[in-house]
Amino acid sequence: MSHKIALIGFGTVGQGLCEILLSKKEKLKSHYRFDWEVVAVSDMLKGSVYCPDGLNIEKLLNLTKSGKSLKEYECKCEKAPCEYGWDAIKTINDTNADTICELTYTDVKTGEPAITHCRDALNSGKNAVTSNKGPAALAYGELVELARKNRVRFLVEGTVMSGTPVLNLTSGPLAGCEISSVKGILNGTTNYILTKMEAGMDYETALKKAQELGYAEADPSGDVKGYDAMAKVIILANVVMGENLAAEDVDRQGITGITSQMIKEAGKQNARWKLIGFIEKKDNGINASVKPEMVPLTHPLAGINGATNALTFSTDLLGDVTIIGPGAGKMETGFSILTDLLEIHRGGKS
Ligand SMILES: NC(=O)c1ccc[n+]([C@@H]2O[C@H](COP(=O)([O-])OP(=O)(O)OC[C@H]3O[C@@H](n4cnc5c(N)ncnc54)[C@H](OP(=O)(O)O)[C@@H]3O)[C@@H](O)[C@H]2O)c1
Repeated sequence: MSHKIALIGFGTVGQGLCEILLSKKEKLKSHYRFDWEVVAVSDMLKGSVYCPDGLNIEKLLNLTKSGKSLKEYECKCEKAPCEYGWDAIKTINDTNADTICELTYTDVKTGEPAITHCRDALNSGKNAVTSNKGPAALAYGELVELARKNRVRFLVEGTVMSGTPVLNLTSGPLAGCEISSVKGILNGTTNYILTKMEAGMDYETALKKAQELGYAEADPSGDVKGYDAMAKVIILANVVMGENLAAEDVDRQGITGITSQMIKEAGKQNARWKLIGFIEKKDNGINASVKPEMVPLTHPLAGINGATNALTFSTDLLGDVTIIGPGAGKMETGFSILTDLLEIHRGGKS
């Protein structure tokens, strides 16, 4: 039986996921016995369409790429004609999807509307998969518990380092290891800026360049003040270490105070400034921070330049394990959703 998928949000990640599903349809079926149908797409401005027997996603992608509304999708299905115009909540509750992919904008202050979307999906007996940091940082414990109660899954691989396997690495291959600390570069924009500053650019020019390349938003404060990395630190602490951290538990500092002079001084000491997310288990609790740190050039994290991300897990059985990879991108984050869909297909437990 095919796995029925509904997408809430059809922006960069939603379209990236659909492109991957299309290009790998045969391989997913032959190698992993994963057969899928996208039954619904609901997007705020691009429109929405639902067909219980499955939509032609190539047509949906073409409509969106040519700036047309999804309501122009022509249903060829005689048995179950399409429904148009359903909002996110109706799509989540009333479609026949097995899994809801929550791919709307991140709001790390309230987590909404994504938390409501995930909660409704789980309450209606559907799996919820998301790359949205809001639900994972603000309501992870509640949503995992809800998933358990309803015998479905809540998976969030794409919220930290996009499709680079970080969360699934700890629940899969590293299961059985005790992880005592996690340390890493979790924000590509700030790492890019620091790399450019080391090459001689001042902070303002490096930020402008990051904005031109689409790494930094017009309002870059979420990145440069450390809020984005803080949300990922909270997710790592909660998902990997079973904690229940909130923003006030993380000592947060961004890179706005780093000057060209400080970068030069670090070079003289064979070190490099990096914005480091850090979580460490202590006898009496947990330490969590996001701060610029001078990393010795001999440390694996010192060699991570540009928009790349990296994380070092300190484990009891393997010592340090470092994973390096992309932290964002259309296909990279679309892939994170595919990995969670395959994990659900394999039938693991929450
Ligand atoms: N892109 C990346 O590299 C990346 C990496 C890691 C995590 N993420 C996270 O993944 C999520 C998706 O990212 P993205 O890059 O695809 O964002 P995006 O391109 O801005 O797409 C988000 C889509 O969600 C739609 N939307 C917003 N609110 C909605 C609602 N209430 N109901 C239905 N649709 C709604 C938007 O609709 P309209 O635009 O039509 O209004 C937009 O098409 C975000 O939470 C992001 O933080 C992205």
